[in-house]
Amino acid sequence: MPNEELHRTLKKMIAQSDHPRELAVEVMYHLQHHYGWLNDEALREGAELLGLSPLELEELATFYDFIYREPVGRFVIHVCDSVVCWMLKGESVLAYLCRILKIAPGETTEDGLFTVVPTACLGYCNHAPAMLINGQFFGPLKEGEIDKILEDLRTMPCDLVLCR
Ligand code: FES
Repeated sequence: MPNEELHRTLKKMIAQSDHPRELAVEVMYHLQHHYGWLNDEALREGAELLGLSPLELEELATFYDFIYREPVGRFVIHVCDSVVCWMLKGESVLAYLCRILKIAPGETTEDGLFTVVPTACLGYCNHAPAMLINGQFFGPLKEGEIDKILEDLRTMPCDLVLCR
């Protein structure tokens, strides 16, 4: 969607809202989808559309693990970093991913394919330990499965679903 069309869509959405601030996350997601991440330009655009200061929107943006203020890979792996998953070896999932992808938590692989983000409970506790990649849940994760999941993603022609 060209930027002007996106702005028209967002302005229409905001105009229909009693309190534009309520749409801050939705607006950020749309801009993030357009740019690939919420860069400074996107943040300024979003703030202007919402009638907020860039700082106010920045405060909201940095609160959400699913709003990316830095460039991310094609697949963003949100690894659950909460208690139920910890109890079921979730910490070793994060450590394993970082080891095989040769990155630290929060970083992106050199080929731009994967970013690993430790994330508070994904709401998928009954399938712990769990991870969420571009909108698709995986769990309960067992040893050996992670390699297969990554391998499938490497050869996937599309990007699963939009991470929202
Ligand atoms: S604690 Fe991991 S999904 Fe809820």
